[in-house]
Amino acid sequence: MEYKTIIVRIEEGIATLTLNRPEVLNALNDQVFNELADAASEMAADPTVRVVIITGGEKVFAAGADISQMATASAVDVMTSDKPSHRAFHLIETMPKPVIAAIAGYALGGGCELTLVADIRIAAENAQFGLPEIKLGILPGAGGTQRLPRLIGPGRAKELIFGGDFIKAEEALRIGLVNKVVPTNQLFEEAKKMAKRFCDRGTVALRLAKSAVNEGLRMDLEAGLQYEDKCFNLLFATEDQKEGMRAFLEKRPAKFQGR
Ligand code: COA
Repeated sequence: MEYKTIIVRIEEGIATLTLNRPEVLNALNDQVFNELADAASEMAADPTVRVVIITGGEKVFAAGADISQMATASAVDVMTSDKPSHRAFHLIETMPKPVIAAIAGYALGGGCELTLVADIRIAAENAQFGLPEIKLGILPGAGGTQRLPRLIGPGRAKELIFGGDFIKAEEALRIGLVNKVVPTNQLFEEAKKMAKRFCDRGTVALRLAKSAVNEGLRMDLEAGLQYEDKCFNLLFATEDQKEGMRAFLEKRPAKFQGR
């Protein structure tokens, strides 16, 4: 597929999606969201892709939804929009493969919300996070009011949403918004190192482990445990499980085929 606002590169099982509108700090317009959605579907279906990295490059992740696109919209325009952001975020969040956000520079508004649909967030030392929508007279409408409190708790999420201020990478780490902070010039190397680690793991097990965590978060504990049990049982019907355990007993690395 041809993309204009993102760059898609696949190397050794790792697909890297790079936002590419540097002139507007990677502001996310409908075209970007549509291309992200298409790329997410393509990566999900491509058996050679085992892990996906989303990044904006070394300078900026994304400075939010494109304000110039929203400035003159009416309530009816917004209400009747098919919301490409929602479709893109849903497809990324439910992608049956690990998704790592590698974040340098600003991750604001929709950019910050995009990081929230990744499974893991790695921040460069120069990263800054924020949900400044409140300063524009709106609220984070692409999942920010829902996913952020689930990740860092309602009190901290409300402080970020109500104040609209930016926080630096170290503070993001302290409140659990990101998994780790790395020197800016090592961001991609670190993201790839983590991605490579996941590439070697059981493919079907990864898929079901992600589903167990994500689906379980929507359920009460009892229902979540039952769902986990179903996923666990199902894995015993896979060749990956046989290979993983046989390889352990034969003292050699497992070679998972995703079957
Ligand atoms: N939507 C549309 N354009 C944006 C944008 C956005 N969210 N964020 C930045 N841009 C554009 C600017 O308009 C500017 O374009 P111009 O050169 O044609 O004037 C260009 O990107 C560079 O941004 P600029 O503001 O000059 O950079 P800066 O380094 O001074 O400030 C920010 C960086 C991120 C602090 C500032 O751009 C900003 O506050 N952006 C909006 C953040 C926001 O509110 N996001 C939530 C949207 S819902």
